[in-house]
Amino acid sequence: MRRLRNQTFALAAAVVAATLGPLGAVSADTDVVEYRQSVMQLLEGHVDAIMTVVRGQVAFTDHVVAHAESIEQLSQNMVDLFPPATGPDTLPTNALQQVWSNPNGFQTATLALQQAATNLSLAAQSGDQLAIAQEFNNLRRAGCDACHSSFRRRPSQ
Ligand code: HEC
Repeated sequence: MRRLRNQTFALAAAVVAATLGPLGAVSADTDVVEYRQSVMQLLEGHVDAIMTVVRGQVAFTDHVVAHAESIEQLSQNMVDLFPPATGPDTLPTNALQQVWSNPNGFQTATLALQQAATNLSLAAQSGDQLAIAQEFNNLRRAGCDACHSSFRRRPSQ
């Protein structure tokens, strides 16, 4: 039994090691890029979910509040995701150098998303379908797209 437990432990440790990869081989800055891209994917997931509701494909209108509030929360500390030394001069990233050369503009862009998410959350709480659709379009345009067009390298480039 004891032997079995040891074997189980060794197996668990091997699984953890395989999942984490060789510790220390990956630089922390690379991890930051991976982390921020994951957060962006989360935003994309919320936007996709809301879009399905707004198009009337599913009737989960009452879920929109949770998605809008999640976007709002994720946008609150977005600047943290772009620390110095994580730009395109040093790492593979689609963030443009402008994120660091124009920090005020970048912060303003994060605030625009935050504001748009607040507005969408309020519209969702009111349950007004038209207002939800309008605020959602605004969030994508003034929140996501506005920042991407100034601060993100287009994926096709
Ligand atoms: C303040 C600027 C800013 C805002 C606002 C913003 N993004 Fe981004 N986004 C970026 C930058 C910069 C990158 C490139 C990150 C990188 O490659 O390191 C990015 C990358 C992405 C990616 C690609 C992630 C990957 O796997 O490489 C997706 C998807 C994305 N954003 C979705 C969204 C959505 C959806 C919203 C709105 C809800 C949003 N973003 C709002 C700046 C922003």
